[in-house]
Amino acid sequence: MTRAYPVSQTPAPETAYKYNYTYVPPLAMVQTVPASEGFSARPQWICLVALSALKVLINSLMIEIRQYQGSPEYFEKLFESLKGVATQLGGRVEEDFLKAIESAIEAHGIPKDLSELETCLKDVVETFANTVTEQTLGGILDIIPHRGAESAQASSLNDYNQLFQFISLPAISKNFMEDSEFAAMRVAGPNPVVIERLTALDSRIPVSDSQYQAVMGPNDSLQKALAEGRLFLADYSAFSGAVNGSFPSQQKYNYAPLALFALPSGGKSLVAVAIQCSPEPGNDNPIFTPQDGNNWLIAKTIVQIADGNYHEAVSHLGRTHLFIEPFVLATHNQLSTKHPVSVLLTPHFEGTLAINNAAQSSLIASEGGIDKLLSGSIDQSRVDGVKGALSYMLNVNTSTLPQTLAQRGFSDPAVLPDYPYRDDAMLLWGAIGQWVSQYVNHYYASDSAVQGDTELQSWLAELVSHDGGRLNNIGNQNKLTTRAQLIELTTMICFTASAQHAAVNYPQSFIMSYAPAMPLAGYSPAPATQQGATEADFLKLLPPLDIAELQLNVGYLLGSVYFTQLGQYGDNYFSDPVIQGYLVEFQQALIAIEMEINQRNKSRTPYEFLLPSRIPQSINI
Ligand SMILES: [Fe+2]
Repeated sequence: MTRAYPVSQTPAPETAYKYNYTYVPPLAMVQTVPASEGFSARPQWICLVALSALKVLINSLMIEIRQYQGSPEYFEKLFESLKGVATQLGGRVEEDFLKAIESAIEAHGIPKDLSELETCLKDVVETFANTVTEQTLGGILDIIPHRGAESAQASSLNDYNQLFQFISLPAISKNFMEDSEFAAMRVAGPNPVVIERLTALDSRIPVSDSQYQAVMGPNDSLQKALAEGRLFLADYSAFSGAVNGSFPSQQKYNYAPLALFALPSGGKSLVAVAIQCSPEPGNDNPIFTPQDGNNWLIAKTIVQIADGNYHEAVSHLGRTHLFIEPFVLATHNQLSTKHPVSVLLTPHFEGTLAINNAAQSSLIASEGGIDKLLSGSIDQSRVDGVKGALSYMLNVNTSTLPQTLAQRGFSDPAVLPDYPYRDDAMLLWGAIGQWVSQYVNHYYASDSAVQGDTELQSWLAELVSHDGGRLNNIGNQNKLTTRAQLIELTTMICFTASAQHAAVNYPQSFIMSYAPAMPLAGYSPAPATQQGATEADFLKLLPPLDIAELQLNVGYLLGSVYFTQLGQYGDNYFSDPVIQGYLVEFQQALIAIEMEINQRNKSRTPYEFLLPSRIPQSINI
């Protein structure tokens, strides 16, 4: 059964959200976050962020006093530090924090070992997190970056491991140096959207057959692999000529590497073959292979640094957070709250204006966290993010998941059998697409119903207007003329706000919080010769310990907050019983996907970032 869309009352112009184009020029953002969109309207969100922030804070305090570990005064010193933080926070917060500490000690006694300490501190964190408001959360977040590790170069990897005191050392710390792990990052890491299949040899990275065969064996060759579609490239040449950053105190370096990978004949998983640290071949820009010892390790790390910068600026900030914002504004301004498209999309926008505003006003501001962490100058990193966002925003029709996979040569799932991100993302794209099409087809009996929905047409007009969302290439010449176009666009919005954001957001905690595995900046130039690098040269490339701690703090905080869950819209959120039935089907499909992914993980590179139970409905962190 279908029924006509309800043309409902268009929102009054005085309640419209105003656009701003100067926060992150020229992108459309909200001028002021309305109270209903703010964090204060979501106490549960504040509590979740406070939980993570307090864990980071305690971790920092424990780094500061780690030299006392094992001595009798350790626990005393730690509780002194905690009380010092409480005093710093002042007023009511101080009282609440001290009360939480006292009640934990009362319940558990003074801890005698690390496991008792952990129990006690978890109690403090949980009790105190419930009392935190938006304002006090700001106070806690302000304290964190000024504590912990000293600004010193690491003398061994153990120095980085020691940054994980209260927060557990991520598993990646054990195997990030393995070549198989480096290759797995391209298809199941934080940024699994760069690798592309080659259709011709790339003259910018002139790998010889002997170099290739040293890795892939004497029976394979570049030409054979190319003919069989088994050659792949991770291309970061977009960073060529990028302006190097130097904030807060050290010279940092951008790199624009090319990394060649191959699939063994009849094999499933990528193998890393060669890396060139910038795109122009030359004597001072050698090709490194797994034969090159520490230089190979350095070259792999340079790829990881480029990938980390691409991840944060382009894939995460640009193509999820900033991409979704104009849809939030136009939906509010042009669709009544009862309009079916507004009803469908609004849960996928929860918290997005607030988190994006927090990002533009602090995290990506000059001298903010991104300025401290990333390779580029802050202007460079912001331009990278804007260019990444615009590449999707000006080409909406060609930026859907199936389109972007096809552009990189992966429309056939048989190409590269072990590509967990592609395979899991396509499952979710399919399930979301099915739910959205049932929904849209229920409200729109025909294409002409879409054309005749004046609210919907105004929505699209605002999305593409220069005074609105500034998007382009949507539907048919920026008009929605068919149900199929509406379904595809709405699927893209729901998918990007939920699954795609989860895929790029949560590895920040599980992988990127351990800086040696994916440093967000390099601190020495790329090697100009093939030989002679030492372990010390590798360590010189990595961030100083205070910056590594900041990367841990930011990564853990952003990558450990799970607010809402995909497909859980709340009891009776949809009033129409037919839609309720479709929703049950969607929820069942998500359960089936969860099982399928768990099954797949038994026989491929394990990948858990797209388990539906770990995907929030919206971008809110
Ligand atoms: Fe995020």
